[in-house]
Amino acid sequence: MTKIAVLVSGGGTNLQALIDAQNRGELKNGEITAVISSKAGAYALERAQKAGIPGYVVARKEYDSNRAMTQALVARLKELDIGLVVLAGFMHILTEEMVAAYPNAILNVHPALIPSFCGAGYYGLHVHEKALAYGVKVTGATVHFVNEEPDGGPIVLQKAVDILPGDTPEVLQRRVMEQAEWIILPKAVSLFCEGRLSVEGRTVLIQEGEL
Ligand code: GAR
Repeated sequence: MTKIAVLVSGGGTNLQALIDAQNRGELKNGEITAVISSKAGAYALERAQKAGIPGYVVARKEYDSNRAMTQALVARLKELDIGLVVLAGFMHILTEEMVAAYPNAILNVHPALIPSFCGAGYYGLHVHEKALAYGVKVTGATVHFVNEEPDGGPIVLQKAVDILPGDTPEVLQRRVMEQAEWIILPKAVSLFCEGRLSVEGRTVLIQEGEL
C-alpha cells in the first residue's frame, strides 16, 4: 500500500475528489495518510479532519525562502514514510530538494492543457483569465510528474474542456474542475499506486488495464 500525502494551500476541492475516490475504493493500492497545508486555517485541513486524515501545517510564511520550506516539507514527508506526494492546489514552487527526494513520485494537477498556460505565474484563477484573454476555444487539465521545471515534468493524463460563450474565469474554473481535474487526478494517483506508470524521457507509459 503506497502512503499518499496531499499538499494543499486553499479550498481543497481536488483533495475532496481524492477523498471521495478513496471512499469509493477507487485509489487502488494507495491510502491518503497525510494532508499538508502551506497555510494554517486552509479549508482543505477541515476536509482532511472530516475524513479522519491527519493534517499538518508547513507554513510558507515561517520560512525565509521556498528552499527552506521545501527542506522542512521533505523532512516531514520522510518522517511519515510517504511514497507519493500529490500537489493539489499547492501554490508554491518547490526547489530541487523535493524532486531529488521523490524522483517521479510527485504528481501535480494543473488547470490547463500543458504546455499552454503554464509555468511561473500561472496558477489558480489566473490560468483561466489568461486562457480567456487569449481566446482559445478548448482548455482543460493536466496531471504531470513534477521535475525541476515549473509545470514541465512528464505528462500522465490530460482532459480537454470546451470554452463556452460568456464564460468568466470563475465559471470556466469550475467547469475545468468538474469535467477534468476531479476525474483525472484520482485516476493518475491510482495508476501510480498500482505501479502502472513508467517514464521514458518525456513520455509516461501507462500499463494496460482498467482506466
Ligand atoms: C485547482 O484548479 C488547481 O488545478 C490549481 O489551483 C486550484 C486549486 O483548487 N492549481 C494550480 O494552478 C497549480 N499551478 P482546490 O484547492 O479547490 O483543489
